[in-house]
Amino acid sequence: MMSHLLLLILSAQLTSALCSDWLSDYSTQSGEALSWINSMGGPLRDERPVPFPNRAYRRVRRETVQSQLAFVGETLSFIAQLFNSANMSAAGWNRTSTEKLRTNINRQREDVLHCIPSNTSAVTTLYKYFRMLEKVTLLRTGGSRGSWEQVRWETRAHLVQLDVLVQPNIKDRSARRRRHHP
Ligand SMILES: *[C@@H]1O[C@H](CO)[C@@H](O)[C@H](O)[C@H]1NC(C)=O
Ligand SMILES: *[C@@H]1O[C@H](CO)[C@@H](O)[C@H](O)[C@H]1NC(C)=O
Ligand SMILES: *[C@@H]1O[C@H](CO)[C@@H](O)[C@H](O)[C@H]1NC(C)=O
Repeated sequence: MMSHLLLLILSAQLTSALCSDWLSDYSTQSGEALSWINSMGGPLRDERPVPFPNRAYRRVRRETVQSQLAFVGETLSFIAQLFNSANMSAAGWNRTSTEKLRTNINRQREDVLHCIPSNTSAVTTLYKYFRMLEKVTLLRTGGSRGSWEQVRWETRAHLVQLDVLVQPNIKDRSARRRRHHP
């Protein structure tokens, strides 16, 4: 029932061509982001510097698609800030892959933010979480290699969770087009 509601809202709100483009391109973009984050360095290590905001993700799943998209845009903005502002040289990552990831995140962020009215605000802000993350990793160590790896791990966790959040909306749309009722 919830997914029907989401579908209705989605159809009503995402009629602009830009949004359809973004949604239809989303799987590719999201897959590429994960691929760049895996390939930019060595194997990812599970070292969580701060508790992951699982509750925020659970909560936003119950919100409107518009709020979900605002949340996606906001989360990508925080990630972009982490990767844009600080000195990454100590991370020792592959520059090409890192640059591709940055470009991908910035592009996804701009695309999703174009999709929603500018006065939409995300229901759940991850401001505190990202501030804490930056504080206990990059700021505490001055951007050590290990702290960048922690940021990389957390970033990957967000990319996976954002994908989990967005994919059902895409599936609803294509399922509807095929007139398939599960
Ligand atoms: C970045 O940090 C490295 C040392 O980790 C330093 O040598 C370099 O000058 C810094 N670059 C900038 C632009 O701050
Ligand atoms: C960096 O990654 C690119 C492809 O993503 C690859 O072609 C290149 O060889 C890598 N460079 C190093 C130094 O590993
Ligand atoms: C956002 O702006 C639109 C008009 O652009 C207006 O109809 C709507 O009520 C506004 N929503 C909020 C939450 O301010």
